[in-house]
Amino acid sequence: MPAGGPTGELRLIGRLVQASNGTFLAEDDQGSRFLYKPVDGEAPLRDFPDRTLGRREVAAWALSEAAGFDLVPPTSWVETGPFGPGSAQTWLEGAQTDLVDLTLAEEVPDGWFGVVIGADDHDRDVALVHADEPALRRMALFDAVVNNADRKGAHIIHTTSGESELVFGVDHGLTFNVNDKLRTVLWGWAGDPFTDEELALLHRSLECTAVLEPWLDPVEVIATRLRAEALIEAGQFPEPGERWPVVPWPPL
Ligand SMILES: Nc1ncnc2c1ncn2[C@@H]1O[C@H](COP(=O)(O)OP(=O)(O)O)[C@@H](O)[C@H]1O
Ligand SMILES: [Mg+2]
Repeated sequence: MPAGGPTGELRLIGRLVQASNGTFLAEDDQGSRFLYKPVDGEAPLRDFPDRTLGRREVAAWALSEAAGFDLVPPTSWVETGPFGPGSAQTWLEGAQTDLVDLTLAEEVPDGWFGVVIGADDHDRDVALVHADEPALRRMALFDAVVNNADRKGAHIIHTTSGESELVFGVDHGLTFNVNDKLRTVLWGWAGDPFTDEELALLHRSLECTAVLEPWLDPVEVIATRLRAEALIEAGQFPEPGERWPVVPWPPL
């Protein structure tokens, strides 16, 4: 996977029809592929400032890299894309993870976490389930730091690189809100104490928030520091609150 941003001009090669914003597949001069999200394609949202979502994508990548989460594909800012400025994220040749799923509540796989979220046509309980995987646990921690309001199955991509299986998070447009918006399918570790490694990731997040400054409002950077401090103080994964739908819809 190329580590940097696009070389030369981006050229559109497709539009992602299932995406909620103007989201495009694009290619640079070297034939590398990127997910290009022009600011002009952003649909306005009630609870996020207009024309800031692409910048949040870059901020999420910057924090993932600087703190060592290593969960976000390289994401940069382009000034001169085909539809103007926006974010450009390395396109992953992969598939949506199968580590998150919906199943009947009585069929939650052994060792997986499940939470009942509804009923099927025959009135049987349906559970949202996910595997007890270290990469997903790290993603749940990352999401708590960046206050991700949209961690659904479609935003977790599975790829292989040589022998290794890799898991990446994508679509970080709804992050870094100053209000608590954590909305995710990864609640399996709620209330679990952090490991030393996780505490180290939180301390590194706290130390590297300067990388967010070019991309976010200053109060959003401060809010990120406060979230990291609060997580360190709590010493455990956050638990779902009451106020906000805590699971994205649709969840996959
Ligand atoms: N970098 C990427 N590599 C591969 N697939 C991606 C990447 N980013 C997004 N996708 C896929 O494209 C879909 C739409 O992109 P997303 O960023 O979610 O757009 P939107 O902000 O419009 O919802 C995602 O749900 C995911 O399946
Ligand atoms: Mg999306």
